[in-house]
Amino acid sequence: MTATLTREPHRVGPLADRLNGILASRGIDLATTAVEDGHAEPVTALELADARIPARYRRALADHPKVTAWADEIAHAGRPGPGGPGIAEGPSLLIAGPTGTGKTHQAYGAIRTLLARGVRLRWEATTTADFHARLRPRAGHDAERDLQTLARCPLLFLDDLGAAKTSEWTEELTYRLINHRYEHMLPTLITTNLPMEHLRVTLGDRVASRLAEMTERVILDGPDRRRTAPAA
Ligand SMILES: Nc1ncnc2c1ncn2[C@@H]1O[C@H](COP(=O)(O)OP(=O)(O)O)[C@@H](O)[C@H]1O
Ligand SMILES: [Mg+2]
Repeated sequence: MTATLTREPHRVGPLADRLNGILASRGIDLATTAVEDGHAEPVTALELADARIPARYRRALADHPKVTAWADEIAHAGRPGPGGPGIAEGPSLLIAGPTGTGKTHQAYGAIRTLLARGVRLRWEATTTADFHARLRPRAGHDAERDLQTLARCPLLFLDDLGAAKTSEWTEELTYRLINHRYEHMLPTLITTNLPMEHLRVTLGDRVASRLAEMTERVILDGPDRRRTAPAA
């Protein structure tokens, strides 16, 4: 049989439908991004998901061997599902290192690797400072529901753990978030500026002890890339 090339819209299956739903709920209209000049172009799951990744990290590649090994492990453990393998229980990854060494880049790179492998991925990303701000009590806002969304999400990226100002209240929130993910063995990408030996003092023993058991560790070093790279 000979394949026929057409200009018909290219469907990428149920995964794209799910991503479309997620993006639509965030006010992103794919009809205007996927089709130009009346000609439909193929849209990959990775391209759809890229819309949720901050512009600076939209082309990030995870090139650290421990980060790619982690992504491989998660991809292999994926549960079969209608739109491709879905995220299952698995190890988490803690990427530590000074400012500008590429922690956030590696983390988004890992998410992109999973998407490129066709893993059916429901993921959330937040900095710790935004996580605290999002859950601050305010009228008409259900903070508990937000906490549950992040705690239960199949893959969570928690950026800059330990960098935000803490209080007893934020420590309790962080504990509840990490403890849920620890108990349910939900893969979590975490970055931190803190040296390993400071984790316990800054985050508290309950969080540090769980992180010690649930995460594989990557330490990045080198100069601050923001100060050495040409402006972009
Ligand atoms: N492996 C890499 N290749 C190219 N650019 C990188 C790489 N890692 C980081 N960068 C760039 O360096 C800058 C700092 O990286 P970032 O991940 O934000 O650092 P950190 O999160 O450790 O503070 C960003 O502009 C990022 O795009
Ligand atoms: Mg960062």
